[in-house]
Amino acid sequence: MLPNRDSALQTSAIRKMTTVSETITKKPLAQRLNHLSAQSVWTEFTPLANQYSAINLGQGFPDFPADKFIIDAASNAVLNHLNQYTRSMGHVRLVNALAAHFSDQFGRHIDPLKEVVVLMGATEALYATIQAIVNPGDEVILIEPFYDSYPVDIVLAGGTPKYVPLRYEGGENSSDFTLNFQELEAAITSKTKAIMINTPQNIPGKVYSRQELEKIAEIVKRHDLLLISDEVYEPMVYDQSTHVKPASLPDMFERTITIGSAGKSFSVTGWKTGWVIAPPHLSEAIWIVHQNVAFTANTPSQEAIAVGFERIKKEDPDYFKNLSKDFQKKRDLLCDRLRSAGLNPIVPQGSYFVLADISRVDEKHYFDEKSGVARDYQFARWLVKEIGVAAIPPSAFYSRDNAHLVENFVRFCFCKKEETIRSAGERLQKLKEYLK
Ligand SMILES: Cc1ncc(COP(=O)(O)O)c(C=O)c1O
Repeated sequence: MLPNRDSALQTSAIRKMTTVSETITKKPLAQRLNHLSAQSVWTEFTPLANQYSAINLGQGFPDFPADKFIIDAASNAVLNHLNQYTRSMGHVRLVNALAAHFSDQFGRHIDPLKEVVVLMGATEALYATIQAIVNPGDEVILIEPFYDSYPVDIVLAGGTPKYVPLRYEGGENSSDFTLNFQELEAAITSKTKAIMINTPQNIPGKVYSRQELEKIAEIVKRHDLLLISDEVYEPMVYDQSTHVKPASLPDMFERTITIGSAGKSFSVTGWKTGWVIAPPHLSEAIWIVHQNVAFTANTPSQEAIAVGFERIKKEDPDYFKNLSKDFQKKRDLLCDRLRSAGLNPIVPQGSYFVLADISRVDEKHYFDEKSGVARDYQFARWLVKEIGVAAIPPSAFYSRDNAHLVENFVRFCFCKKEETIRSAGERLQKLKEYLK
């Protein structure tokens, strides 16, 4: 039911939690935690990378500094005493800037005070959205691979995730991962509340075309569902791809919750500032959850991000186009190094992640069938120790039933300095010694 994770880790983490709580109190933990674990690919692979001094192309956080204008704006905010709680639904300067920035893309005027909520990152936006719309017993359809907090949010709300995997039958581009609309429709039941999509999708970097989104929209409307559209990677699209907002399609704004992240847009993942744009009745419901979880997102970063969007509007309208160009160079560099090392990349149309095919590496070096551990996990652990590069096993973003679909891949991120990608690329060349 929950994401595929190394089951040994999961069980030991739960046992550890139970033992600790038993020494303090005999009262058990909430049952909703029964199938959840403190362990994840993030808690495993970043410490492992540090332990082996590996170059970390695992977790997607930039290792380069954010632009000076955004750093200056944050320090000015702190120095100018913007250090107290701000408006709970979103700092006024930021909601105004977000509405001004996004209205055109939505093809309508976004009301900054009623249709925008600012939260502690897209992560809280996703949590609050699910809490606001999912009743116990409701089903939410996830497209695999999904971002790993989606199914957990649904389970915490008492709902059930239903999985529809992207299908891949070969090819070298993320557009070769396709959504089968019959499968999508077959997953809908009378209990279905919403479909969640992520475009550009982390992973494989798929940017849904207008035609694909129109089909999804048609299904959503015909079955009277909500659409949750996670668009945190919207500023990073490459080649001929264009990001289309599902909420901009006819009659979709009323039923779509669009989620974004300043952490991704401005390379400040530690600021944990994200937003929801949705019609007033949905925005208000999401705000009610946020008001009682965090009350407000932090003020100085909201002020700084507002300054950032205002600056883009007034002085630098091509800012995000140029950002995409910079990331595209990094993408091309990493894909080139992966190809040369024998790990064929699936070239992403968007986001800053790339899937690489590990099937040419001789499994005798890293795979122990008897261990019961998924192939991509075993490869990713071996890669850190033997080659000195950290990547993420993508089956962490699949349900158990579908994890096998991605066992021949690992995920690398390229939101790194060119020199980091070059150094990792050099280390990866050692893989040539291990190819079949
Ligand atoms: C698809 C997707 N959604 C949401 C998030 C969370 O974003 P934030 O850091 O703003 O909470 C991430 C972070 O990696 C992501 O990849």
